[in-house]
Amino acid sequence: MNISRRSFITGAGISTAASILPARWANARDVNGEREIKLRFAIASDLHYGQRNTPFDEFAENMVEWINAEKKDKGLDLFFINGDITHDEPGMLIQLRDKHLKNLDLPYYCIKGNHDYVDEKPESPTESWNKVWGYSTNHTVEHKGFAFVMADTTVAAKSNVYLAADKKWLAGEFQKHAKAPAIFSFIHIQQRAHKKDGWPAHGVSAAEQVEKAEAVMDLLETTPNIRGVFHGHNHNETKMWVSGERRYFFDSHVGGSWGAPRGYRIVEVDSQHEIVTYQIKGEDKKELNRNPLPQSVRA
Ligand SMILES: [Fe+2]
Repeated sequence: MNISRRSFITGAGISTAASILPARWANARDVNGEREIKLRFAIASDLHYGQRNTPFDEFAENMVEWINAEKKDKGLDLFFINGDITHDEPGMLIQLRDKHLKNLDLPYYCIKGNHDYVDEKPESPTESWNKVWGYSTNHTVEHKGFAFVMADTTVAAKSNVYLAADKKWLAGEFQKHAKAPAIFSFIHIQQRAHKKDGWPAHGVSAAEQVEKAEAVMDLLETTPNIRGVFHGHNHNETKMWVSGERRYFFDSHVGGSWGAPRGYRIVEVDSQHEIVTYQIKGEDKKELNRNPLPQSVRA
């Protein structure tokens, strides 16, 4: 039996019965016993591990604790850290990986942010993203038939350069996964310029990049099975932005020195491929907002 979409939609700050049920992972069901969760994943961004004058080890410990608790209590398939995982120092990638991320109880993937530097010197342990993580800065993961497409929007090691994602690479990945029930796209830097259509600050800004990034947004908005686009970078943003047929989400931040309350985002897909996403404030586990992810914005 299908659960009605209405059951997924709640106002900001309101927790539903489904979200507080002690649903176990193998057979998670909603309050009416009608919804079986097929896929559940978490996203956090902007840990800024190593940023001076911040308790960055504590931030990393908190993040690992929050995500492991989600896995234990409700089940999680995957975890994505959506850029600026470190702060301007390549060596911090290794320290973060070996001191904290090794404690995560589930597979995780890192998207490169503009503060994540690699040291391109040959033989450096941080010579490339691939050397640190085992995959490149443009990378796709498949899980349970779903595709998770992570796109690079940065240069190797210079802060505050915001790039358009590689549209050609993205188009190829989307084509490869045209039959997937859903594609989720992770892009650290918002591809829309500040103020265009009221969008928030910190998007691409150089004219040449703005033009390329708008073409990326066209691609995102004309690829039918993309169900959500997730950004990091703007620590103040917690909500959903709509453009064309696509929904774009921010999830504040888990570290660093500024921004909205720290937290993370959950995405749940049920057996009918109904999808919902909600943001959790880390310190008290309060749900901050909740949105469905229909195939069409007009659905
Ligand atoms: Fe950033």
